[in-house]
Formats: sequence, structure tokens, C-alpha cells
Amino acid sequence: MLVSVVFVSFVLIIFSCSRKSAATSSVSKKESAAVTMYQSSVKPLIALRCSPCHFPADGGKKRPLDNYDSVKVMAADMVRRVELNPGERGFMPFKKSKLTSEEIAVFKKWAEETAK
Ligand code: HEC
Repeated sequence: MLVSVVFVSFVLIIFSCSRKSAATSSVSKKESAAVTMYQSSVKPLIALRCSPCHFPADGGKKRPLDNYDSVKVMAADMVRRVELNPGERGFMPFKKSKLTSEEIAVFKKWAEETAK
């Protein structure tokens, strides 16, 4: 756990060149980093790749992935599923093409963020 916290903090420091390194160490900063990442990259990606099936407002009947809390709870399973290949049991997005490695990396990074 500590190793992953240190690792993710380190990655965050590298990615946010302009931020002060000390800023990533407090609990509230970690939570806000997860919220910021959800808003800026996770939410748009889900809207693009997981709709309409997971968006009740669009008639989706599958587990809602249209809000932070729901996506946070499902983070690990989402990563597991998008890493499968088309045709494998549980693969997502269902019957569509596999996400790019960049898109999968966004889910993975965010899952690590929420797991802290
Ligand atoms: C075309 C419709 C469709 C799209 C697009 C789609 N899904 Fe799904 N999703 C399904 C179906 C159907 C199931 C139920 C079958 C199953 O569990 O494998 C499901 C189930 C799931 C579950 C399990 C839900 C539970 O209640 O346990 C997760 C997590 C999930 N999808 C994630 C995703 C993610 C992440 C994306 C986008 C990258 C995505 N899905 C895109 C149709 C879709």
C-alpha cells in the first residue's frame, strides 16, 4: 500500500510539473486529486466509451457509471474489464472495439488514485 502511494505520488509529481511536491502528501489533497482527475479525464472518457449502456438518462440499463461515487466503487472492475480482449467474458465496452492503451492508462491511474 505504502509503495503504491509513494509510486502514485511520484507519478503525480512528474505529470504536474508546475505543482509543488509537498502538495501531494495530505489526505485532502489526494481526494481532490481524484475528483479533479475524474472531472478532467475519466468522466469524458466514460461518456465517450461507455454510453449509452451505463447512462440511465440515455436509456442505459446497465450499472450506472454516470457519477463519481458509482465509478469510484467500480474502478477496479472497470480496469479489469477494459484490459480484457474482445470476445473474452466480461470485456468492456461490450461488443465494441477495445480501448486504446492511453485510454486504459487513464482508468488505471484513476483506480490507483481512488484506492489510496
Ligand atoms: C453497448 C453497451 C455497453 C457499453 C458501451 C459498455 N458496457 Fe459495460 N456492461 C454492458 C453489459 C451488457 C453488461 C452486463 C454483462 C457483463 O457483466 O459482462 C455490462 C456490465 C459492466 C460492468 C459490471 C457491472 C456490474 O453490475 O457488476 C462494468 C464494471 C462495466 N460494464 C464497465 C463498462 C465500462 C468501463 C465501459 C466503457 C469503457 C462499458 N462498460 C461500456 C454493456 C455495455
